[in-house]
Amino acid sequence: MLLEERHSNFYPVCSLAELQQHSRIVRTIEDRPILLLWTEDGAVALDPQCPHQHVHSLDRGSVACGEITCPNHGWTFSLRTGRARIGSGRIRLFTVRISEGTVEVALPEHQPRWMQE
Ligand code: FES
Repeated sequence: MLLEERHSNFYPVCSLAELQQHSRIVRTIEDRPILLLWTEDGAVALDPQCPHQHVHSLDRGSVACGEITCPNHGWTFSLRTGRARIGSGRIRLFTVRISEGTVEVALPEHQPRWMQE
């Protein structure tokens, strides 16, 4: 279970058909940017902020073999664990579910400051 899942609400983001058609969708939910990807493992949701320079660059990243690579300096992260394979740190992944054709993402409700990084 992801840490976020314990204190979460699920928010509808888009239709499954829309995600499958575009493969990549960026939305803002509760003032947070969310990057949704359609991968060989299904729908994946993450914070598009790269841990390297803390900029929102992963929405332009390349996706292959269960990983996303930042276009800025090539740091690469697992879309299954969030851990870096090239570089260091980890990306924040969010729990995703499909409910009646709608892709929903779980976001923590009231995230304490110490959990924000
Ligand atoms: S900002 Fe992402 S690798 Fe440098």
